[in-house]
Amino acid sequence: MPAQGFLHRLRRLLEPPRPLIHNPREPRDAPLGRWNLYVGGAGARTPGYINLDLLHAPGVDVVADVEQLPFPDNLFQRIECDAVLEHVRHPERAMREIERVLAPGGCAHVVVPFCHPLHEYPKDYHRFTPDALRLLAGGLRISAEGWRTGPTATMLVIVLEWIKLLLPWRAWRVLAHGVFGWLLFPLRYLDLILLRSPYAARIGNHYYVWFEKAQR
Ligand SMILES: C[S@@+](CC[C@H](N)C(=O)[O-])C[C@H]1O[C@@H](n2cnc3c(N)ncnc32)[C@H](O)[C@@H]1O
Repeated sequence: MPAQGFLHRLRRLLEPPRPLIHNPREPRDAPLGRWNLYVGGAGARTPGYINLDLLHAPGVDVVADVEQLPFPDNLFQRIECDAVLEHVRHPERAMREIERVLAPGGCAHVVVPFCHPLHEYPKDYHRFTPDALRLLAGGLRISAEGWRTGPTATMLVIVLEWIKLLLPWRAWRVLAHGVFGWLLFPLRYLDLILLRSPYAARIGNHYYVWFEKAQR
């Protein structure tokens, strides 16, 4: 319907930029192999990957739990697992499954929240310090790690949630999200400086680790 299409475009135009920026020093690319796995990519386009998610949604190729992957050992050259482990009952089991299906010489890129509001997909069980994520390495080697999003991202996502808490009606919350989102988002660039500080770890937002499986 033309009216609905117009409203959708208007909404996208008014949607404020995200209150966070990614650390430009985070390595984002590694060569893809013949088989690559994207864990928890519902609704996202993941070209080059098999998209596995607990729930069926557009773009999902395989519906399964990352704690029990329906694949043989040593298959995937590359695995992406971004903002998923906090939704998993037993992250240790999920990581052992990732280790099992990773091919020798392959790598897994895992991102987890540390200071972040509750968000249920469909549940929200955990937050991770950098040490907690490193503990999940098992037999994998850590080749790179750091903060993806920093203290200002933490502050902005929490302030936006706090403002909405004061408003009793959904329409007001949507409006506040738009207005304050636009007003506050320029602060996100402070993280380009703050992420260089060792103290960023005290209230960092999301942490990444690249894990590698040894060649046989
Ligand atoms: C916060 S979203 C992350 C989406 C995407 N990776 C991103 O960064 O935008 C978490 C996703 O993990 C999926 N998920 C939750 N528990 C899972 C599980 N046990 N196994 C596989 N996927 C799971 C959810 O259905 C959801 O699509």
